[in-house]
Amino acid sequence: MKIAFLGTGLMGFPMAKRLCAAGYELNVYNRSKNKAEELVNFNANVCDTPAEAIINSDTVIIMLSEYYAVCSTLFNLQNNSVSGSKNILKGKTVIQMSTISPDENILLKDRIEKLGAEFFEAPVLGSLPQIEAGKLVVLVGSEKDQFEKYKDLFNNFGDDIIHFGEVGKASSAKLALNQMIISLTSAFSMSLGYVINMGVDVEKFMRVLRKSALYAPTFDKKLDNMLNRDFKNPNFPVKHLLKDAKLMNNQFAKNGINNLILESVIKILKTTIDEGYSEYDYSALYNSIHPEIKAPFSK
Ligand SMILES: NC(=O)c1ccc[n+]([C@@H]2O[C@H](COP(=O)([O-])OP(=O)(O)OC[C@H]3O[C@@H](n4cnc5c(N)ncnc54)[C@H](OP(=O)(O)O)[C@@H]3O)[C@@H](O)[C@H]2O)c1
Repeated sequence: MKIAFLGTGLMGFPMAKRLCAAGYELNVYNRSKNKAEELVNFNANVCDTPAEAIINSDTVIIMLSEYYAVCSTLFNLQNNSVSGSKNILKGKTVIQMSTISPDENILLKDRIEKLGAEFFEAPVLGSLPQIEAGKLVVLVGSEKDQFEKYKDLFNNFGDDIIHFGEVGKASSAKLALNQMIISLTSAFSMSLGYVINMGVDVEKFMRVLRKSALYAPTFDKKLDNMLNRDFKNPNFPVKHLLKDAKLMNNQFAKNGINNLILESVIKILKTTIDEGYSEYDYSALYNSIHPEIKAPFSK
């Protein structure tokens, strides 16, 4: 299998590295080429354009930030009109692994199938530590035979590869899971900020929380970041959580799920970004929920 790997950001780079280590022939492309160049050391061919990567491959893996990045990478004629052939996707299989909405994945499927290529979605749950440990969970929305054909490929990222059904189902599940990241982090930030302001011993509070049914492991993962207000070295930055919150907000509104909580969190995430934390770890939303300088939020 020859793979075009498009997008070597925080997630894409270590994912591509794992595929190289497993012996796949990789043609990698990243808009900022410098972020892909180190993959040469792992025998990848680092390409100047998406077209160069796609033309030399039979399978295309996409790990880009959002829908518009996917479209501008896949369909940009200026970048892709190589060898006089505008339809470089014909006969390829495109595997879309970025977190985008079910509607966006369905749009891409229609558009790509019209070009004579196959398409399916495979978003992932987990971040950099899970990639390093080979423990990403891959949620697949595809035809059954596509799932069977590519399961071994996904096993290079983790051993939990789950087929949800057709395109749109896996991305719906992925958004539903990311909604939990938002809700749990916001809920914990509120309680942590409150107990600190009330002079409650945080370790005693955590001891009770850890023993209760209310506990989620993410609380301890983010506790030190919040206590030290240190959100550097993100695995998952605030800007991407805001992107996902907006996608979920649209999906909830369309599906009759009350989205008032999400709308509030979107405002909180925007404040976090306004304060300069766009590229920081998403737990920086704690700073907007519990600012260092006390502000009255009763209204
Ligand atoms: N980080 C996580 O923990 C995590 C976990 C699960 C899923 N995800 C999802 O996985 C996807 C990738 O995440 P990431 O953390 O790797 O993000 P990232 O580090 O921000 O990388 C984003 C990638 O998209 C490219 N890109 C952005 N805008 C573009 C545009 N207009 N045209 C072409 N390329 C563009 C970037 O290229 P440049 O390098 O040139 O900017 C880079 O390759 C996102 O959908 C994210 O929500 C992330």
